[in-house]
Amino acid sequence: RIAGPCAVVLFGVTGDLARKKLLPAIYDLASRGLLPPGFSLVGFGRRDWNDADFAEYVREAVTAHARTPFGEEVWSELVDGLRFVSGSFDDDAAFDHLADLLAELDEKRGTGGNHAFYLSIPPDAFPDVCRQIQRSGLADGDARGAHPESWRRVVIEKPFGHDLRSAQELNRIVEGVFPADSIFRIDHYLGKETVQNILALRFANEMFEPIWNGNHVDHVQITMAEDMGIGGRAGYYDGIGAARDVIQNHLLQLLALVAMEEPLSFDAEHLRAEKRKVLEATRLAGPVSTAAARGVYAAGWQGGEPVGGYAEEEGVAPDSTTETFAALALAVDTRRWAGVPFYLRTGKRLPKRVTEVAVMFRPAPHHPFGHDATEELGANAVVIRVQPDEGVTLRFGAKVPGTALEVRDVSMDFGYGRSFMQSSPEAYERLILDVLLGDPPLFPRHEEVASSWRILDPVTAAWARSGEPEPYPAGSWGPSSADELLARDGRTWRLP
Ligand code: BG6
Repeated sequence: RIAGPCAVVLFGVTGDLARKKLLPAIYDLASRGLLPPGFSLVGFGRRDWNDADFAEYVREAVTAHARTPFGEEVWSELVDGLRFVSGSFDDDAAFDHLADLLAELDEKRGTGGNHAFYLSIPPDAFPDVCRQIQRSGLADGDARGAHPESWRRVVIEKPFGHDLRSAQELNRIVEGVFPADSIFRIDHYLGKETVQNILALRFANEMFEPIWNGNHVDHVQITMAEDMGIGGRAGYYDGIGAARDVIQNHLLQLLALVAMEEPLSFDAEHLRAEKRKVLEATRLAGPVSTAAARGVYAAGWQGGEPVGGYAEEEGVAPDSTTETFAALALAVDTRRWAGVPFYLRTGKRLPKRVTEVAVMFRPAPHHPFGHDATEELGANAVVIRVQPDEGVTLRFGAKVPGTALEVRDVSMDFGYGRSFMQSSPEAYERLILDVLLGDPPLFPRHEEVASSWRILDPVTAAWARSGEPEPYPAGSWGPSSADELLARDGRTWRLP
């Protein structure tokens, strides 16, 4: 589907996310012909830029980071709709100018009074921007009465607060300006094909769902590993840490999709209701001291090169206690999952970039082959490979060829690249298009965000009181406390 006439106002346009993901995704949508004629993009920021400077910046960003190669034809259409408003977030005149500019675009480029405000800015800037949007009449939109059917939407990037209380306060501010169904909270993991495929795998098939419960599943492991360090992002990351950066959002959303009940339909209302229920039933599986682990990367080796530790990264506070690795053992208190731990882990500077969900099954109740024959047999598993090698692996036992009866693990693979001709769109392409189409299922509601903070708050509060995270060498699988987390339950982490 092609989006209808509209303009997007991007706040935080010079940030990393805008440059590497958002602007390239908009370009990719344009090159796939999914943006409407007259589409306009207004950058808002403090730089002393004119429209041409902004266009130059966008051109550089999309040339470097868009999925589709740069093409003059696509660009010449897009560039016509690029505008820049220079000002700070507390500058009344700049927002008044923005309002005039949008009215002008509505008339001259036919954007029809439909405006999306994309807040790719730190949460402490939300209140100012929301207040200005309201004050300048941009939230009620059609002050001039020219486009009675038009819409206003706001798109919010994480971090949405740093705990339950601050998230609720931010939500109060945003909902004071925009109605709940006009608020689009981005969790870019939900825009990934392989994440959406969790629902297809579970609910479009007959062979998984009957065994997708504590009668057959021993435990679930969700891993999001990154080989890179924090790069130049200390300004954002230091003080936030791994748990708030990705567990609160991406990993708990993965858990929700894996653990939830079948929704009545895939409408936003039904899907979000089921995710919310399962998040509300989720809690830390024990005290923080035994059900959570954290670490911080020290100097080590990666890809054959020596790399420095977190403390040496530019911009990290000398007394920082920020974790770059976090692991949790969670319990989901529902009949389906009673007694089944969900282990989540994430870290920077781990051996490789890989995200996967591994559903690990119980041993068969009886082996007629005898102990020796099955000595080498591991647990059956369904492994959803989120990235980078997108697909699903089934692991099970098979007879080793020969006269002896010996059973060993084998695996069967589905790979997106091998089974489908189409390549997966970038998560942000899908999500930005959904905002413009007004399609909400892939955007978490506030209640889900709040439940996620409720799960995490006791952990981050305890960590804040208890000194420093445990160092792990860059290029390793994290601190030993993460292994102990599973060892206490007689289990080990899978090697993805
Ligand atoms: C972001 C985090 O949400 O996700 C980053 O802030 C992380 O720290 C990134 O690197 C990873 O995204 P992806 O899509 O590359 O797995």
